[in-house]
Amino acid sequence: MSRSCRLHLSLVTQGSAFALLCLLLGTLEIDALNLTLNNSHNATCLHAQWQMNFTIDYETVNHGLKNVTIQVPSNASYSGSDCGTNDNVSQIKVQFGSGFFWNVNFTRENSAYFIDIISFSYDTSDNDTFPDAKEKGKVSTSFEVNTIGVPLDEFFRCRSVMTVTEGNVTHNYWDILVQAFIQNNTVSTKEFTCDEDESIVSTTTLTTVPVPTSKPIPKERPHPGTYSVKNGSAICLLATMGLQLNITKDKVTSLLNINPNTTDYGGKCLKESATFWLNDSNEHLEFLFAIKNGNRFYLKGVNVSLTFVNSSDFVAANNNLNCWDAPIGSSYMCNKEDTIAVSDTFQINTFDLRVQPFNVVEGKYSTAQECSLDDDSILIPVIVGAGLAGLILIIVVAYIIGRRKSYAGYQTL
Ligand SMILES: *[C@@H]1O[C@H](CO)[C@@H](O)[C@H](O)[C@H]1NC(C)=O
Ligand SMILES: *[C@@H]1O[C@H](CO)[C@@H](O)[C@H](O)[C@H]1NC(C)=O
Ligand SMILES: *[C@@H]1O[C@H](CO)[C@@H](O)[C@H](O)[C@H]1NC(C)=O
Ligand SMILES: *[C@@H]1O[C@H](CO)[C@@H](O)[C@H](O)[C@H]1NC(C)=O
Ligand SMILES: *[C@@H]1O[C@H](CO)[C@@H](O)[C@H](O)[C@H]1NC(C)=O
Ligand SMILES: *[C@@H]1O[C@H](CO)[C@@H](O)[C@H](O)[C@H]1NC(C)=O
Ligand SMILES: *[C@@H]1O[C@H](CO)[C@@H](O)[C@H](O)[C@H]1NC(C)=O
Ligand SMILES: *[C@@H]1O[C@H](CO)[C@@H](O)[C@H](O)[C@H]1NC(C)=O
Ligand SMILES: *[C@@H]1O[C@H](CO)[C@@H](O)[C@H](O)[C@H]1NC(C)=O
Ligand SMILES: *[C@@H]1O[C@H](CO)[C@@H](O)[C@H](O)[C@H]1NC(C)=O
Ligand SMILES: *[C@@H]1O[C@H](CO)[C@@H](O)[C@H](O)[C@H]1NC(C)=O
Ligand SMILES: *[C@@H]1O[C@H](CO)[C@@H](O)[C@H](O)[C@H]1NC(C)=O
Repeated sequence: MSRSCRLHLSLVTQGSAFALLCLLLGTLEIDALNLTLNNSHNATCLHAQWQMNFTIDYETVNHGLKNVTIQVPSNASYSGSDCGTNDNVSQIKVQFGSGFFWNVNFTRENSAYFIDIISFSYDTSDNDTFPDAKEKGKVSTSFEVNTIGVPLDEFFRCRSVMTVTEGNVTHNYWDILVQAFIQNNTVSTKEFTCDEDESIVSTTTLTTVPVPTSKPIPKERPHPGTYSVKNGSAICLLATMGLQLNITKDKVTSLLNINPNTTDYGGKCLKESATFWLNDSNEHLEFLFAIKNGNRFYLKGVNVSLTFVNSSDFVAANNNLNCWDAPIGSSYMCNKEDTIAVSDTFQINTFDLRVQPFNVVEGKYSTAQECSLDDDSILIPVIVGAGLAGLILIIVVAYIIGRRKSYAGYQTL
């Protein structure tokens, strides 16, 4: 079988801009195709979300060549899609309208998987879609992609439009997120981005199989913000923190840094509780502090709601936390990265944290109680030091014993 393939990938920037505009307007939004497959053990083995349309050229009885663009309706069927029996070939099958059939095969080789063959067939005897078509009947096309190698345990992402013309059909694919051969039942958090998304090149022709390379999502440390809440004219709560939100939605994890420069904040100080909130156009985050045993404070609750442009809201809450525990009259400090697990789908990574929700005097932090993570920096030299001292002791003891033995030996001679 010939492995040669023509795959013309072109970046249609106007198309992307148009799609973005549609998303923003929220009016012309087309449903994305969306499929999650299980294997025979009910473990997730494939997840895919993508958009596609097809432009088909066909000959008419008396108006020459015509073309029609086919959109995939939201009630398309995925029946027949599966991860294969021995997990070496997975396939997605999409059927819709009157006789449209689309198929993609994924194959696996060692530590990578490939988008292998795409086939598409249509039936020109459908008079509604192909009015006055000269030839009536079923037409099948297929082509080998096989140029996109993705490391196992990474998901493939391509927001740009990929265009392929095969026979009389022009295929457009965009907003792709796919992972085949999922390991351990969870969609990876590692993204493998298509070249189109990375470099702005007007037309690229791929002829060779690129070596799979890992491209983890770089995410910088969030900038710490400094916040203070007043009760009347006096500061009653102080907080300094860099916050990174880790959101898992539709099995995809994304990281979001809070930018203190564009974030509004506030709070309330009561006798036995305090709240502190951060707000910007897309996110609302709230912290609830409480007092325990009359002498310590702690972070009791976190509430979050996020608004995404193109999908439903994300909310998470937990009011049974027990974090940031310190005596009242002191502040809690943690310079190292720490994590608050709010829910299965939401966690907050904190950086350069210092917080004092009660008994702030003259608008300044009181002495800090440091988190155990920060203590490591002191603990490690202590352990090393103790180890060295122990070693010296052993050497000294060995020396003394050695001296004694040789002395004893000398005596007997
Ligand atoms: C088909 O998809 C392409 C790429 O997103 C887009 O530019 C084009 O407008 C779509 N065609 C129709 C008729 O929606
Ligand atoms: C995919 O489909 C599932 C249910 O079929 C739905 O819960 C989920 O929100 C969909 N995701 C997207 C991105 O459309
Ligand atoms: C996939 O497996 C999960 C359990 O792991 C189950 O809840 C879900 O219903 C299964 N989905 C399908 C389509 O069988
Ligand atoms: C898989 O999950 C479905 C739905 O939850 C259930 O009906 C089916 O029995 C499960 N199959 C196995 C093999 O666990
Ligand atoms: C479809 O036909 C129109 C004119 O009828 C033409 O402008 C357009 O370029 C054609 N599109 C394709 C993909 O052939
Ligand atoms: C899908 O929806 C169209 C109308 O939008 C309808 O004509 C068609 O019968 C539906 N197909 C299925 C499989 O439900
Ligand atoms: C790959 O896809 C084709 C359809 O294009 C299908 O007929 C074939 O069985 C698939 N190959 C394997 C090994 O499953
Ligand atoms: C389509 O139109 C042709 C002629 O106009 C007719 O013979 C045929 O029966 C029609 N097919 C269907 C499925 O309606
Ligand atoms: C394209 O369409 C024309 C006329 O409809 C047909 O004669 C030709 O065989 C088709 N080509 C392919 C590759 O299907
Ligand atoms: C899957 O789990 C096994 C053991 O549970 C582990 O050794 C392996 O590294 C995991 N693989 C991935 C890709 O997470
Ligand atoms: C984000 O959360 C997921 C699971 O909730 C976890 O596996 C992943 O390591 C987290 N990533 C970061 C950067 O915190
Ligand atoms: C916030 O503003 C400061 C100074 O105006 C700037 O140095 C810093 O880079 C900004 N931070 C972010 C995340 O934009």
